[in-house]
Amino acid sequence: MKFPDLNLALLSALLLIFLGSPAADAADVLYQICGTTGNYTANSTYDLNLQTLLTNLTTSATNSSSNFGFAKSTVGSVPNQIFGLVLCRGDVNSSNCSSCLSQATQDIQNLCPYYKEATIYYDFCLLRFSNQNFLSSTDNTNQVYMWNTQNVTGSKTLYSNYVRYLMNTTADYAAFNRSKKFATGQLNLSQAFPETYGLVQCTPDMSTSDCASCLNSLIDEMLKRFSGRQGARILGVRCNIRYEIYSFYSSVSLLSLTPPVENAPAPAPAMTPPVMNPGPQGMERTIYFTCASITS
Ligand SMILES: *[C@@H]1O[C@H](CO)[C@@H](O)[C@H](O)[C@H]1NC(C)=O
Ligand SMILES: *[C@@H]1O[C@H](CO)[C@@H](O)[C@H](O)[C@H]1NC(C)=O
Ligand SMILES: *[C@@H]1O[C@H](CO)[C@@H](O)[C@H](O)[C@H]1NC(C)=O
Ligand SMILES: *[C@@H]1O[C@H](CO)[C@@H](O)[C@H](O)[C@H]1NC(C)=O
Ligand SMILES: *[C@@H]1O[C@H](CO)[C@@H](O)[C@H](O)[C@H]1NC(C)=O
Ligand SMILES: *[C@@H]1O[C@H](CO)[C@@H](O)[C@H](O)[C@H]1NC(C)=O
Ligand SMILES: *[C@@H]1O[C@H](CO)[C@@H](O)[C@H](O)[C@H]1NC(C)=O
Ligand SMILES: *[C@@H]1O[C@H](CO)[C@@H](O)[C@H](O)[C@H]1NC(C)=O
Ligand SMILES: *[C@@H]1O[C@H](CO)[C@@H](O)[C@H](O)[C@H]1NC(C)=O
Ligand SMILES: *[C@@H]1O[C@H](CO)[C@@H](O)[C@H](O)[C@H]1NC(C)=O
Repeated sequence: MKFPDLNLALLSALLLIFLGSPAADAADVLYQICGTTGNYTANSTYDLNLQTLLTNLTTSATNSSSNFGFAKSTVGSVPNQIFGLVLCRGDVNSSNCSSCLSQATQDIQNLCPYYKEATIYYDFCLLRFSNQNFLSSTDNTNQVYMWNTQNVTGSKTLYSNYVRYLMNTTADYAAFNRSKKFATGQLNLSQAFPETYGLVQCTPDMSTSDCASCLNSLIDEMLKRFSGRQGARILGVRCNIRYEIYSFYSSVSLLSLTPPVENAPAPAPAMTPPVMNPGPQGMERTIYFTCASITS
């Protein structure tokens, strides 16, 4: 796994996330990355292939009998061949997955008009297409970073160690034990730090070792950049991670953890679903910064 080359492109924007109304937020675009591999013209073969591809991806990904909110596909032949991939967050059901992908199909063509390559991220799904065969590898390109501007109180180093434990345990569980390559976990941190919630996901076509190494490099990158933050995410086409000090996923956490005791073996994760923490109430506002780094 390679870390993204920040010198290639560094963009920044400001997003306001309203914690009190997750349903309204989920439909908003988090970020789009318009590609650099050329433009097509209206009604060209490329255009027609793209429309076929986008329909195919949404249909395939939401056919719940055969997949997990994931699809990849290719349409046409060189020079009009086009490759695409969609992924819904692992806890999102097929109706919400379907509406997110429909939204993505529309938005991406408005936000990156006539681009041969584009990537778009939402809370509930992502979509990428390109004239380059990015499906042939599992490189986690086109990453987007988001982080909470607020920090926890107390030792950043100590909190980082807890976040690493939470994300690492959740990532190993997703990579080794789940065909869906998706997991959520919560870590109870007594009085010193707030209870922390993590989510990790790889595309389900990835091998256990590719998924683990994809997630591992994101966790390293996240802790290097966002130590002590109250929340952060790194979005990528192949794998993505996020943690927050409130519950942000719809189902109960797959793992419920307590911190490992110093100088003692880490306790086995409790597999019984925990009681949901209702999270912050009302319209508390958190300011997120977002930036994208494009690797090619
Ligand atoms: C594609 O078109 C947009 C504007 O319509 C332009 O900004 C962009 O540079 C073009 N991309 C390429 C690779 O030509
Ligand atoms: C593309 O096709 C549509 C429907 O056939 C037509 O309305 C539109 O004018 C065409 N656009 C171009 C640029 O040829
Ligand atoms: C959904 O998947 C099943 C099993 O692979 C397949 O038989 C069915 O035709 C698919 N439906 C659609 C609408 O693609
Ligand atoms: C989508 O395209 C793939 C080939 O890339 C094909 O196997 C699949 O049947 C298509 N699915 C639909 C729903 O058109
Ligand atoms: C899908 O999830 C949403 C929100 O979590 C829920 O409101 C809706 O009832 C669910 N739909 C189905 C078909 O389960
Ligand atoms: C999820 O689906 C439910 C109904 O199935 C709907 O009420 C809700 O608005 C959807 N949320 C999003 C973000 O699409
Ligand atoms: C949080 O910590 C970072 C890095 O130490 C610092 O740059 C930032 O100003 C802090 N944010 C707040 C709101 O104090
Ligand atoms: C997950 O898989 C690993 C490796 O196969 C195994 O050691 C571990 O016990 C499993 N964890 C759970 C919670 O099933
Ligand atoms: C979790 O931590 C262990 C021990 O440091 C490491 O071997 C493993 O690769 C990590 N897994 C992930 C997914 O980061
Ligand atoms: C974590 O705390 C919640 C209540 O905040 C509790 O229901 C749950 O059992 C705790 N989990 C563990 C592993 O201690």
